[in-house]
Amino acid sequence: MAVKTFGVWTALFASLVFSRPCIKYLQELLSVRDTISNKRDGTPTQNQADVIIVLGYALFRNGSATNPLRARVDAGVDAWQNGLGANLIFSGAHPRRISGYITGGGKRRKSEARVMLEHGMQRLGKSEKQVAHKPESWILEERSTSTVENVLHSLDIMKQKGWSSVLLATNKFHQRRALLIFQKVASKLGIHCQVQVLEVPFAGHCWELGFLVDNAMDLLDFLRELAAFIYNYKYLI
Ligand SMILES: *[C@@H]1O[C@H](CO)[C@@H](O)[C@H](O)[C@H]1NC(C)=O
Repeated sequence: MAVKTFGVWTALFASLVFSRPCIKYLQELLSVRDTISNKRDGTPTQNQADVIIVLGYALFRNGSATNPLRARVDAGVDAWQNGLGANLIFSGAHPRRISGYITGGGKRRKSEARVMLEHGMQRLGKSEKQVAHKPESWILEERSTSTVENVLHSLDIMKQKGWSSVLLATNKFHQRRALLIFQKVASKLGIHCQVQVLEVPFAGHCWELGFLVDNAMDLLDFLRELAAFIYNYKYLI
């Protein structure tokens, strides 16, 4: 009897934790409060940033963008169109072979940055084939395989161009760590810059394998982020 009751409570608790509202709540714990919103309300753009940086995220194994990555790109491109940033960097390397079993695979495939660029062109209403005619202020950064590298390589570009203000575009679960790393690395390198974070709406995974898989992936994003906080602790304190 006691065992049965325990089982029922465990099942209830597990399904509560595994529900979308709960996972969304957990992800939002890692977001930044005072983000810059994309909504245009007619007021003139306040402090346009020199550059909007869209941070990369693992691709599907077939090389296409996942839903969370598409949300980052959509928000970044909209912000660029709304005049919140003068330039746009898509930052993300070719998928590494080690993760090729579950995520977009291999050196010969497109980089995350390239896939983001193509999705960004679609957001502008252009076809994939028109990427050759991308806006001049859009830059591909195809070397980064981690958030720390995203920041290092983006700061490199910013230094070359003489840019000093940034708007980071990334999912809520990644915002706090990305912001802290950016501030820390910039100050370590003696680069003075203003860093802000763009509001990106929650976008869960869509794997076409049912909501259990989608929820599991969203929960994994949260848990992986907690692990990354420990792994990156020296950038965060
Ligand atoms: C790639 O895989 C994902 C997940 O299975 C699927 O949703 C998407 O449509 C696929 N894309 C292409 C271009 O086949």
